[in-house]
Amino acid sequence: MNRILSKIQKRSLTFDFSKHIETASNPKTYDLDYLGYTNDHRFGCTEPFPFLTTETVDYIKKLTKNEQFLSKTKYSMPFAPCVLRNPAQNDDFLKAIIESPEVESHLSKIVGEEVAWHWNPWDASNINISEKVETDQLETQVFDWHIDSQPLTLVINISEFPDESKGEEKPQGGSTLIRRRNGEVLELPHPTPGYATLFRGCSVFHKATAANYRRQTYVKTLTFKDPSQMDCDDMLWAAEYSDKIGQSETYLHGRLDRFQKQFEYLKDNSGDKEKCERLLKTVDREMIVMRQFADSIFKMHAGEKYDLGFVGSSYKTQEEMEEALTGEGSRMF
Ligand SMILES: [Fe+2]
Repeated sequence: MNRILSKIQKRSLTFDFSKHIETASNPKTYDLDYLGYTNDHRFGCTEPFPFLTTETVDYIKKLTKNEQFLSKTKYSMPFAPCVLRNPAQNDDFLKAIIESPEVESHLSKIVGEEVAWHWNPWDASNINISEKVETDQLETQVFDWHIDSQPLTLVINISEFPDESKGEEKPQGGSTLIRRRNGEVLELPHPTPGYATLFRGCSVFHKATAANYRRQTYVKTLTFKDPSQMDCDDMLWAAEYSDKIGQSETYLHGRLDRFQKQFEYLKDNSGDKEKCERLLKTVDREMIVMRQFADSIFKMHAGEKYDLGFVGSSYKTQEEMEEALTGEGSRMF
């Protein structure tokens, strides 16, 4: 027993904001106006910025090779052949990061609004692993343009980069691509491990490019602290492939907590008609997702045919993308 305990203690690291998070630089950001939403000056995306220190990246890289950890977290999905789901549930160091108010405050300064780690831990963090592709195959695509159901997405590179000093190839690919509504593409490359990109994943079409190294990304999502800001988090798609019961329970509890916060917001802002109307509009939109959850989750559990609704789509044409951003059921605001 003692041996097992000491093994676990050895594996874990105690999270220390000043040691494990890079805060020296303030990333350049683009607003939604720049990305195609005229006159909307809220946050759209960042340029890549250093986020995790070398010690943090090395620790997470080691975890991705730990068989015991992998046996609890690793799943294969058609759109993500190797994904470590809710890794924070199985590691105290990772859990400390997604519970850290200091990290939330650091990211809030970048976004320009108060943000919090996502209330659904299954969506608050995942590790995606894509196998290396040959340099002449970098156009290979795992997943096409899409938007996420969570408000904000943080993609952190935690790969083992090829070492040119050892005669290995120059690292290529592995970028996040962000699409402006006029069709132009912003390429956001991660020059070294530990770099991150943060963007409004529910409003900005994005995809990743293949890399000539084994690309590992730690993907985290965030929500806005203000509960009148829309959060259409949808877990149906991901639940198809991992722990349906655990995810359904956690999701429902998260949604109920959120409704409670929204009622409190109404009470606190009862004299402000504009705020009350904004909240009710948000609730209307979030109910579309909840009704889809109600219609599908029990059928999924029972092994019956179900409909995923708006989730799980990737898009190719400009028209399809525009419809997803502004049409019925869009999740943007
Ligand atoms: Fe995404």
